[in-house]
Amino acid sequence: MAEGLEVKPLTAGLTGVVGVPGDKSISHRSVILGSVAKGQTRVSGLLEGEDVLRTMEAFRAMGVAIQRHAAGDYVIDGVGLDGLAEPDHVLDMGNSGTGMRLLTGLLASVSFFSVVTGDDSLRTRPMGRVIKPLTRMGAVILGRDGNRLAPLAIRGRELLPLEHDTGVASAQVKSAILLAGLNTPGVTEVTEPALSRDHTERMLAGFGATVERHGLTVAVTGWPELRGQNIRVPGDISSAAFFMVAALLCPGSDVTITGVGVNPTRTGLLDLLGEMGAGITLENQRTEGGEPVADIRVVHMELQGVTVPPEVIPRAIDEFPIFFVAASLAHGQTVLRGAEELRHKESDRIRSMVMGLSQLGARVEEAGDGVIIHGRPEGLQGGVTVDSLTDHRVAMSMVVAGLRCREPVRVLRTANIATSFPDYVARMRGLGVSVNAL
Ligand code: S3P
Repeated sequence: MAEGLEVKPLTAGLTGVVGVPGDKSISHRSVILGSVAKGQTRVSGLLEGEDVLRTMEAFRAMGVAIQRHAAGDYVIDGVGLDGLAEPDHVLDMGNSGTGMRLLTGLLASVSFFSVVTGDDSLRTRPMGRVIKPLTRMGAVILGRDGNRLAPLAIRGRELLPLEHDTGVASAQVKSAILLAGLNTPGVTEVTEPALSRDHTERMLAGFGATVERHGLTVAVTGWPELRGQNIRVPGDISSAAFFMVAALLCPGSDVTITGVGVNPTRTGLLDLLGEMGAGITLENQRTEGGEPVADIRVVHMELQGVTVPPEVIPRAIDEFPIFFVAASLAHGQTVLRGAEELRHKESDRIRSMVMGLSQLGARVEEAGDGVIIHGRPEGLQGGVTVDSLTDHRVAMSMVVAGLRCREPVRVLRTANIATSFPDYVARMRGLGVSVNAL
C-alpha cells in the first residue's frame, strides 16, 4: 500500500482544547543564534520536527554541543561567532529552505569550507536569491545550474558589509544576509518590498546585537558580543492554521488552540478569515520571550469569499494551502493574485493545491501568480486519492478538505508532515477527526 492517510467526512464538529508544536521559524533561529552566542542558551518548546533537527545536526557537525533534556527542552553550549569548526561531511538540510538559506548566509562568513545539500524538493528550490547578494559581499559560493541550485559549496571568508534591496519579501533572504552581516565588520542593511516575518531581527536584538529598523530597512552591526539566552518558543501559527480552518468549516465546532505566536508579521490568515466573516477570538494575550502570544478560539461560521489584498501575502505566505481550502467551501468568489512566490515553496503550491482541490470537486482556476476559487459551501465530493507531492502543508490541508467531502479522501505521500508537525494526526484525532494511515 502506498504511504499516506485516509480521512473520513466529519459528522459532528471538532471540539476541544489543543496545543501546537513550537514555531518552526523561531526554533531554527534559536538553534542558530544559540550556537554562535557565547555561553549557554536554554530553549523550551522547540519544534522537534525534521527541519529543525537537521539544523541542529548541522551545528553539532560544526562542534556545538546541544543536549536534549526533555521534550522540546534543549541546552546549547554556544561557541561564539568565531568558534564553529569545519564540518567533515556534507550538511544535509533535508526538506528545509529556511535551514539551507540561513546557514548559507552564516557559512559564507566563517573561516572554513562547507557543502550544503537537501532532499529532492530542496534541490529544486531557488538559491540564487541568497547566493547573489552574498557574492556581492565577497562570498565564494558555487552551486549547480549556474549557481542557482544546491548542493552548494561554500568557501567561507571575511566579507564586506552590504546595503541590499531584496526585491522579494522573503524572511529567508533577509535573514541570510543579516547572518552574514553579523559576522562581518561594519553595518549590513537589508531593505524589502514588504515586511516579511521579523523573528531574526527580534532574536538578534534579544541576544545583544545592535539591530535598527527604519520602515522596511533593517540594519545589523557586525561582530557583536552575543550572549546565551533563555528562549521559550511560542506555538506555531502556521500549524494552528489547520485547526482554525477545520473548526470554521465544520458545523458544531468549538476549538481553542493554546499558546500560539501572534507576531503581526505572521497573522495574515487571521485578517483574511476575519474579512471572510470568521469570528476568531484571541484570548489571554501576553508577551513571551519578545514575541506576542495568545490562545485562539474558533467556532464554526459560514465564510464569504474575499479578494486578497497584496500587502497581506507575505504575512500569510505559508497559510495559502489551507486558505484555499477555506475559500473552496466559502460562499462566492475568492481571488488571489501577486503570489508567484507560492510556486517556490516545498512544492509549487499553486499547482499542487489546484490539482488536489479540483480532484475533490472544488471549482479552482489556476493563474500564473495566484488562483480564483468559486466556493461550494454545500461541501465537496471527495471519494478520490490525491497526491500531496511530498509537501507537508499541502498534505495537512488536504486532510482538512476531506472533512467536508461526502466520501472519504486518501492523501498520498504525507510523511513530510513530520518536518513541521509530527503530532498532526494524533492531535486531529483528539478533536474528533477520523484519520488513519493507509
Ligand atoms: C521562513 C520564511 C518563509 C516561509 C518559510 C519560513 C523563515 O519563506 O515560507 O516557511 O523561517 O524565514 P521565504 O522567506 O522564502 O518567503
